Amino acid sequence: MQNTGRFISFEGIDGSGKSTQARLLAEALRKDGRDVVLTREPGGSPGAEEIRRLVLEGDPDRWSAETEVLLFTAARRDHLEKTIRPALARGAVVITDRFADSTRMYQGISRGDLAEVVDKLHVLMIGVEPDMTFLVDLPAEVGLSRAKTRAGTEMRFEDMGLALQAKMRDGFLALAAREPRFRVIDGTRSPLEIAADITAIALAHLT
Ligand code: ADP
Ligand code: TYD
Repeated sequence: MQNTGRFISFEGIDGSGKSTQARLLAEALRKDGRDVVLTREPGGSPGAEEIRRLVLEGDPDRWSAETEVLLFTAARRDHLEKTIRPALARGAVVITDRFADSTRMYQGISRGDLAEVVDKLHVLMIGVEPDMTFLVDLPAEVGLSRAKTRAGTEMRFEDMGLALQAKMRDGFLALAAREPRFRVIDGTRSPLEIAADITAIALAHLT
């Protein structure tokens, strides 16, 4: 990939504070004078936002596990083509709220034994990883109670309950232990304390 910019992702269970931290990092880097593209998955391009509606709204049992993996991957492919690659090519810092690790965890773990399918599709259709991934880590019950305070029409995997969120947290931590691009961040602190940590790590990585 033509890649002169930097690609940073945020991952974690629902309600971990990823979106808050992605936004605060984007603000801090813009203040530092950098060209920043803040984006999210599923979504991040007009086509991928349409696919987001297909997967997160309506009857949760509308799609089979396999179809769901294809939809998340299709959304990611469009996001990569239309938003991420052009931004990296012009030298921007791309900050995404979720990327392929979310599919590895949510579809790979929660919908049966699809981990291998998820990995194969990733190699075939996406083939890139972030330069750095912040895992905002916290106990599943804290994430769940934060997430439940949000209202909305989107189905989220938080609806699947505490046991699954806990399994997902363990899965993220295991992945982070294997992949050097991860930085595990204690998400139980105040938003500004967490942001100060993340900004310092990101600035050290970017210089
Ligand atoms: P995510 O994107 O991981 O689901 P959000 O950033 O949307 O998480 O945060 C979920 C909820 O928790 C929001 O209501 C947000 O205001 C709140 N929140 C975010 N970070 C913290 C924090 N460090 N401490 C307490 N509440 C937080
Ligand atoms: P998101 O908007 O990030 O939700 P939250 O703020 O609650 O973390 O993502 C919506 C839901 O989509 C969330 O439950 C995680 C799920 N998801 C997957 O299952 N697979 C994926 O590949 C992605 C990107 C998200």
